[in-house]
Amino acid sequence: MKSFHFLVLLSLALAFSFASAFDPSPLQDFCVAIPEPKNAVFVNGKFCKNPNLTVAEDFFFPGLNVPGNTGNRVGSNVTLVNVDKLFGLNTLGISLARLDFAPNGGLNPPHTHPRATEILVVVEGTLMLAL
Ligand SMILES: *[C@@H]1O[C@H](CO)[C@@H](O)[C@H](O)[C@H]1NC(C)=O
Ligand SMILES: *[C@@H]1O[C@H](CO)[C@@H](O)[C@H](O)[C@H]1NC(C)=O
Repeated sequence: MKSFHFLVLLSLALAFSFASAFDPSPLQDFCVAIPEPKNAVFVNGKFCKNPNLTVAEDFFFPGLNVPGNTGNRVGSNVTLVNVDKLFGLNTLGISLARLDFAPNGGLNPPHTHPRATEILVVVEGTLMLAL
């Protein structure tokens, strides 16, 4: 009988031990940001372009293949692609960046990304990180 009670308690403990936490889902599939609200239809952080007027270029950023100039004090260059440069990223919760470091060494000054996950892909060379 004691083991039955233990099993019931264990089952109840397991059944109520699952946590559920998530960020709210985006309100729509995309919301191409536009700087001027003249032809906008939705507001969700930024004014959104009428979805009927979106074009492929709203989701395209040229230039990530071009190395940034690392001839500066820190020997690095960040090419940031966020909603201000790629309007189709609006409300999607993502951004991207290309980091270039001088061949003889460079530094990306310490910084944080609150509430964000970061994925780094080193294409060439070695990158040392302090976490
Ligand atoms: C987009 O186009 C559809 C089909 O023509 C139309 O029904 C809808 O009202 C348009 N949406 C906007 C926001 O203009
Ligand atoms: C990064 O590289 C770009 C392209 O060469 C250049 O225009 C920009 O001034 C550079 N930024 C810094 C901080 O050196």
